[in-house]
Amino acid sequence: MEYKNLLLEEKEGILTATINREKAMNALNNATMLELHHLFSVDAPHRAQLKGIIITGAGDRACVAGADIKEFLSLDAMKGEAMAHRGQDIFFYIEQFPKPVIALVNGYTLGAGCELAMACHLRVATTNASFGQPEVNLGIIPGYGGTQRLIQYIGKGKALELLMTGDMIDANEAHRLGLVNYVLEKEAAQAKVQKLMKKITSKGPKAIAKIIESVNAYFKHNVNGYSVELESFGYAAGTEDFKEGAQAFIEKRKPNFKGR
Ligand code: COA
Repeated sequence: MEYKNLLLEEKEGILTATINREKAMNALNNATMLELHHLFSVDAPHRAQLKGIIITGAGDRACVAGADIKEFLSLDAMKGEAMAHRGQDIFFYIEQFPKPVIALVNGYTLGAGCELAMACHLRVATTNASFGQPEVNLGIIPGYGGTQRLIQYIGKGKALELLMTGDMIDANEAHRLGLVNYVLEKEAAQAKVQKLMKKITSKGPKAIAKIIESVNAYFKHNVNGYSVELESFGYAAGTEDFKEGAQAFIEKRKPNFKGR
């Protein structure tokens, strides 16, 4: 697929995907959603050297200011449900991606932008970032998982407040509430994302994949998270990386994980 709305750059196994529609505040239009779908379902899983993905937005004003409102006027009940269905599926791909996905959030992170950031495994915000689910101002509700994931990060009371008022919060408040992992000045935020990636990708990739799977299992109503953890633990115990990790500890050296 030729990407027209995503800029992709892979360096030492870390792929940075920049949503590049600066004039429209990086709003997620249909074409961008299709590119994200392709990236996470087809492209990234086939990149042999890939270790992790960083998602960010072009420019300083917005990470993503929501779904593209200019495409909303043609929606009706059926098309709306189909659109939400597709959006949820894409964000599930991100949430369940077996390698770390970190959002580097700069500027407005609203609606689908906030939902996208919440689907990532970690969020690092710049000090000028702001967050919100303003869909209610348009007479609609979040459809890409916002009503479900916001509760997971900030709890029901505050989630209901943000969802029903449509209010925005700044980066410090988002940090205080647990929506973002770190708030830093721009350069420091970029450095933090790289540092987090380096640390996480120095671990055994199979263990990281199983942590992601097990934590996600907690939030699935038809799945017993403890059972997923049991199976994952057994799986990890059978890997070469586990033997290497334990051996390295005993020999007082750094482990050399191979992903096997
Ligand atoms: N969809 C489509 N276009 C968007 C957009 C969105 N979600 N958010 C911003 N834009 C566009 C604006 O239409 C404008 O385009 P134009 O120059 O062609 O008129 C451009 O981005 C700049 O936005 P503008 O509103 O002029 O900037 P601002 O600094 O005054 O305000 C926001 C920034 C983000 C607060 C404001 O644009 C906004 O509220 N956007 C919508 C947020 C939203 O409701 N998201 C959820 C959608 S479900």
